[in-house]
Amino acid sequence: MSAKFYITTPIYYVNAAPHIGHSYTTIAADVLSRGKRKTLGKENVRFLTGTDEHGQKIQKAADAAGISAQEFVDKTSGQFKSLWQSLNVSYDDFIRTTEPRHIKVVQKVLEILHKRGDIYEGKYEGLYCTPDETFWLESQVVDGLCPDCKRPVERIVETNYFFKLTKYQDWLLAFLKGHPGFIRPHSRYEETLRFLELNKLNDLCISRPKERLSWGIPLPFAPEHVTYVWFDALVNYISAVGEFDSQDNYRSDWWPAQLHLMAKDILRQHTVYWPIMLHALNIPLPEGVFAHGWWMFNEDKMSKSRGNVVNPLEMVKKYGLDAYRYFLLRDVPFGLDGNFSEEGIIKRYNSDLANDLGNLVYRTLTMVEKYFDGQIPDVALGANLKSVTDILAKIKHLPIRVNLALDETNFSQALEAIWELIGMANKHVEETKPWNLAKENKQQELKEFIRLLVEVIRAAAGQLEIFLPQTAASIQEQFAGERVKKGSPLFPRIETKSS
Ligand code: MSP
Repeated sequence: MSAKFYITTPIYYVNAAPHIGHSYTTIAADVLSRGKRKTLGKENVRFLTGTDEHGQKIQKAADAAGISAQEFVDKTSGQFKSLWQSLNVSYDDFIRTTEPRHIKVVQKVLEILHKRGDIYEGKYEGLYCTPDETFWLESQVVDGLCPDCKRPVERIVETNYFFKLTKYQDWLLAFLKGHPGFIRPHSRYEETLRFLELNKLNDLCISRPKERLSWGIPLPFAPEHVTYVWFDALVNYISAVGEFDSQDNYRSDWWPAQLHLMAKDILRQHTVYWPIMLHALNIPLPEGVFAHGWWMFNEDKMSKSRGNVVNPLEMVKKYGLDAYRYFLLRDVPFGLDGNFSEEGIIKRYNSDLANDLGNLVYRTLTMVEKYFDGQIPDVALGANLKSVTDILAKIKHLPIRVNLALDETNFSQALEAIWELIGMANKHVEETKPWNLAKENKQQELKEFIRLLVEVIRAAAGQLEIFLPQTAASIQEQFAGERVKKGSPLFPRIETKSS
């Protein structure tokens, strides 16, 4: 295992406001970072996120808003930053592709690859719809019309710069065959392998003529061109944590990254373009790439262009931040698609958070107050009852189980492990019937019983810290010293029409 952990999210396009999909990846990265800070120490973890601010999409959005591209990106990038703060996302660095530190590294990358002959000048020919500013494939154009706006397309030929992906296809295939763990989940690894086996790559056009698009990083050797936005964007993972020296060697304390996190929509850029770029630059590859599934809305991918996006802050306002974080990570196994619905959140909220966790905490606080005047009983727990030893064993193994699940990027499994313990404790209450122990004045048993519940709650809260930071802190505060400090219920039930 590495002694450090450098994790990244995609840098998000700032042409639209962030939605649930963006928050999903970022919260997942947050949980993994918080977990690693506990095992490796704060100083050994670096969590990078940021915004992708160049390219045509952004220019168009700025035009539509009637402001300059720079003004536009400053504003929308800020929206992402403030959302992450509201969602309790503990990023260590936020990179913007319009920052000098990034531009410098991108230009250096271009220069090195150009010098080595991996970037060359060529002709780009295609069918172009001028009003839409989009190239189309021959197969997409019917009767010479743009498939989108139905206006005539033009055949244009322009000078551009190309990156020699073709030269490295065999190398990439061999690399992937030797590293089956590089792309997860495994289905995505197989998909990438099949793609490379069945298709011949084309060289990648990495420039755009300035007269068509000026909002980008100029090519150092051809300033009348700007860099294609994907080529620019991928470099953020290294520009945020290092620099090239005078010998063109990349230097960084953090690179290689342990994990690039994203959804499946941008897998190819991260498993084909990016590894080849790094290899051509003589830079080690990241340890792994994980592409999770999509949040859908009525069977359709949630996205700005489909107009079906849900605003994370609205959900947080309605259900609370930790309920939102819990739902995203618990409801769908990481890697699969999930359908987003408020009924889904309410269901998880009422069953797992209100009934299981909230109830255990509240009933325990109430009993400590009622039977022991708020004083947590100070007794050793070595009971010989099977249900008690089972619970103690569960407590002991919980951190290991959670960490193992996190190493597999399996959030739902980690949470299930915590909820198994909570479920056992609730069952133990129902079976033991503490009110009878009290009635029969079995003081010692009652003490041990309550103390066990407190230990369960402390253990669960310890593990919940990384998933539900606010909730864990609140529980820890209520059970901090020798006396409980009862607060209001953590997750008051949500009454619905059917309940
Ligand atoms: N700017 C590029 C990424 C460059 S990374 C070097 C980009 N940006 S994006 O704003 O479109 O963000 C895409 C990412 O947002 C996905 O890979 C995923 O992390 C997240 N999601 C966006 N919509 C999503 C869903 N509907 N469901 C799950 N995740 C989604 O692509």
